Amino acid sequence: MLRLQSPLPDRYTTATADELSAWIAAAKEALGERLFILGHHYQRDEVMRWADARGDSYRLSVLAQERPEADFIVFCGVHFMAESADVLTDDHQQVILPDLNAGCSMADMADIDDVEEAWEALAGVIDISELVPITYMNSSAALKAFVGEHGGAVCTSTNARAVLDWAFTQGSKVLFFPDQHLGRNTGLAMGYGHDDMRVWNPRFDLGGLTEADAKEATFLLWKGHCSVHQRFRPEHIAAFRADHPDGIVVAHPECSFEVCDLADQVGSTDFIIRAVEAAAPGSVLAVATEIHLVQRLADEHPDRTVVSLDPLICPCSTMFRIDAPHLAWVLENLVEGRVVNRITVDRGTQRWARVALQRMLDITEAAPKD
Ligand code: 13P
Ligand code: SF4
Repeated sequence: MLRLQSPLPDRYTTATADELSAWIAAAKEALGERLFILGHHYQRDEVMRWADARGDSYRLSVLAQERPEADFIVFCGVHFMAESADVLTDDHQQVILPDLNAGCSMADMADIDDVEEAWEALAGVIDISELVPITYMNSSAALKAFVGEHGGAVCTSTNARAVLDWAFTQGSKVLFFPDQHLGRNTGLAMGYGHDDMRVWNPRFDLGGLTEADAKEATFLLWKGHCSVHQRFRPEHIAAFRADHPDGIVVAHPECSFEVCDLADQVGSTDFIIRAVEAAAPGSVLAVATEIHLVQRLADEHPDRTVVSLDPLICPCSTMFRIDAPHLAWVLENLVEGRVVNRITVDRGTQRWARVALQRMLDITEAAPKD
């Protein structure tokens, strides 16, 4: 999806790190309680240090909803997260994304037209009332609205299991988009087999499947992926284990099944943080997720060795777009009374997207805690 971020004024592009820090601190001070800055774990340190709260995509959606007194929520993350915050917050609250080009390539792999076409095609071959659509948080608000309107829910990597358990109380099949890996890894962890799953390729008629495939499959997994997480390979695990036979491999469930299967632990970014915290001092951990989080964990736990599972650096280029100059720019504009880079979801979309997000929050709240 094309989103255009206008170039920043020279004041920000030519400023030193110290100047930017001073401006951000002054703007935060001036805005006080009216401002709430959220930071996703993949943000760079120069941004993260200003976040009032940090979290994974699930936690950030809860936090956004819990701050009705904040007029401005500056979301240091990517576009789909800011949209979700807009859906979940009150009308008087304005959500701001410091760089409009901070999208998510995985979210862009499923668009509403393709999903509607898939639904229509499937309705021609299966009992559509048995099909429950589940969208990963990493998707546009339009897709969240689609699942809300069609009896489904949103999930994140924190609660995919609970949401899928719930989905099978609503129907006997799931259409899961846009990340095939999270869908597959969660389904396998629930005890389903590869034979229960088919990949839906939106570029082909009936997703490239036969009618028999569509009828037999319990999981229809959208052909989408994260370009950051799919870089991790089983060979990286083999190499790490050869060097560190007692080492621990922790992977994000956006990694392929082959990687998750060999990993010692699999979970969301919040889970990964807890896994590193829980490891004994002296442990060696290889983490399969975005490099800024891995580097922060290494810095914060000097008594453990924390490395990226892929020795070649693996950043999320869209998360990386949010930097101190953009943060300073949006905050100084707010101080001047101008809201720049506001993310809004239209009311029609908002209504059903909220239903889908709220279902996720309720399911997660009710699920047994691990
Ligand atoms: P989390 O839900 O674990 O924060 O992951 C979001 C994401 O985009 C991972 O690539
Ligand atoms: Fe999207 Fe992957 Fe970046 Fe997460 S890491 S925001 S899924 S591109």
